[in-house]
Amino acid sequence: MRKWTLQWKLPELPCGLWLQVVLVVSRVCVCVCDGDRVVGQASVTDCSKHERHTRNYDYMEGGDVRIRRLYSRTQWFLVIDENGNINGTQDPNNCYSVLEIRTVSEGGVLAIKGLKSQYYISMNRTGMLQGKKDYSDSCNFKEVFLENYYTAYASVRKTKDGKEMFIALSKNGRPLKGKKTRRESVTSHFIPRKCKEDEKKLA
Ligand SMILES: *[C@@H]1O[C@H](CO)[C@@H](O)[C@H](O)[C@H]1NC(C)=O
Ligand SMILES: *[C@@H]1O[C@H](CO)[C@@H](O)[C@H](O)[C@H]1NC(C)=O
Repeated sequence: MRKWTLQWKLPELPCGLWLQVVLVVSRVCVCVCDGDRVVGQASVTDCSKHERHTRNYDYMEGGDVRIRRLYSRTQWFLVIDENGNINGTQDPNNCYSVLEIRTVSEGGVLAIKGLKSQYYISMNRTGMLQGKKDYSDSCNFKEVFLENYYTAYASVRKTKDGKEMFIALSKNGRPLKGKKTRRESVTSHFIPRKCKEDEKKLA
């Protein structure tokens, strides 16, 4: 009964007052949205800073960060050099192979960044691995635990036919085009290796 009275009383408010109510509400809305956008951008452009962020970028500064080298089944360490080129090296102490592996969303979605070069690994439109300074969807990889103790990293980006594309290093240590990779292939199998304490402070 009280609700009913309220509902029917509201429209009786003077027009001017209604306008004010609408204005205040919309202003609050704009503030909230702007705030979120600014916060979101900040975390995307500078993920190395450990600040509190909101919404979907929570994970970008969340607790699950591992510092690892990715050692391929083809016996290369994955490297992201200072120009963002991705390649393999056999030097076990190459500082460009120290990677920050961060969980960015549920279901084992990761972003992998060279700690020294600060480039993210991304699978670009042509299916090639490429370093990117700014984090985006193309930098997301799903961690696939294989039965043989190896781990594969499938891009969230698929081929036109909907096939998975993996981070893969050939027998010669060169990155493979996503289209040519398969989950079963040795070229897409990696072992994440722990790094020494002093290597974790390269950035
Ligand atoms: C990648 O590594 C191979 C083998 O070590 C080397 O010959 C080649 O020059 C490297 N390519 C780039 C772009 O760094
Ligand atoms: C994709 O990455 C490769 C290798 O880094 C690069 O040569 C090529 O220009 C890139 N293509 C696009 C469309 O970004």
